[in-house]
Amino acid sequence: MTETIVRPPTLEERSSFYEVYGTGIPNVDTLTFDAFSRWWNRSKVQGDLPSLWRVAVVKDKIVGVAINAVLDSLGWGAIWELVVDKDWRNKGIGTTLLQESEQALLKRNPNLTHFVIGVKIRNARAISFVERLGYGIQSLVLRLDGEATSTLKELDLEVNIARLDDIPTLLHLNPDTYWGHRDHKMLEYSIRGGNCYVMREKSSHMVVGFVRLEYDQEQQDSTVISFSYRDGYGVEVVDAALNEVTTKNAIFWVQDRHEDILDHFYAEGFQRVEAELLARKRVRS
Ligand SMILES: CC(C)(COP(=O)(O)OP(=O)(O)OC[C@H]1O[C@@H](n2cnc3c(N)ncnc32)[C@H](O)[C@@H]1OP(=O)(O)O)[C@@H](O)C(=O)NCCC(=O)NCCS
Repeated sequence: MTETIVRPPTLEERSSFYEVYGTGIPNVDTLTFDAFSRWWNRSKVQGDLPSLWRVAVVKDKIVGVAINAVLDSLGWGAIWELVVDKDWRNKGIGTTLLQESEQALLKRNPNLTHFVIGVKIRNARAISFVERLGYGIQSLVLRLDGEATSTLKELDLEVNIARLDDIPTLLHLNPDTYWGHRDHKMLEYSIRGGNCYVMREKSSHMVVGFVRLEYDQEQQDSTVISFSYRDGYGVEVVDAALNEVTTKNAIFWVQDRHEDILDHFYAEGFQRVEAELLARKRVRS
């Protein structure tokens, strides 16, 4: 059998990494080379490139790639993207890359309790692949698209641009998805990037929500909205977020445990266009 080496990418391998990354279906939307390069550069600066990014190499050729991330606040190590070039599948390379990724994640944070991986529901092949490797499906994250019109007649929330000194309060809000869990560093990065808002109840000034708006790279006229909220204020927060959107359409990713918010979106005519299963595996101590 041909020898496969798994190692961190070198700085010269950005383009070949991107090429292999593009042969899979890692994202719903394809990531442009510019956006990928920003991710690569940020990971380089933060030290993630050598510690958490991996390439599988056969005879000096990159045939598989993995991008991993530590979700410290949850104690989870995420295999964020995993792709093996089509011509090289079913030879054990994906298994090796995944196992090496788990090792890299544990090395980065030895206190992790779980490994996680998100798999699109239409990707039956990958579902059996992760289940064979000890992962169990635990929940669903839904992508909902709809018109960006708020139905709230009168807003009970005041909306302000997020500031860095809001961060300690924002850490206590419930995020839309597991990947929406934010630590101090991630919140700081988001807020510095702009288009982030904090929602407060008008009467008490209590912080009840945080949203981030990003223009969708692929779908013109759409804004991707990520949010977190205080229990009991979810629907108001997403509606207040829609008020800030300047595009025609809005895109949300919502985990299935937010039933009241999902119910609200469906009632407002939002439609599911994608769904991802969260598969999780406990770290053996
Ligand atoms: C999912 C993916 C990463 C798997 O990579 P891979 O290199 O084909 O994975 P492996 O070869 O280790 O395992 C694939 C199958 O080949 C079999 N296999 C492993 N080694 C083998 C070998 N030496 N000879 C023959 N078959 C082998 C395994 O039993 C496995 O079967 P299973 O999927 O039913 O469990 C790859 O298909 C891919 O890149 N898909 C597109 C991107 C994607 O879906 N990513 C999401 C990942 S969750």
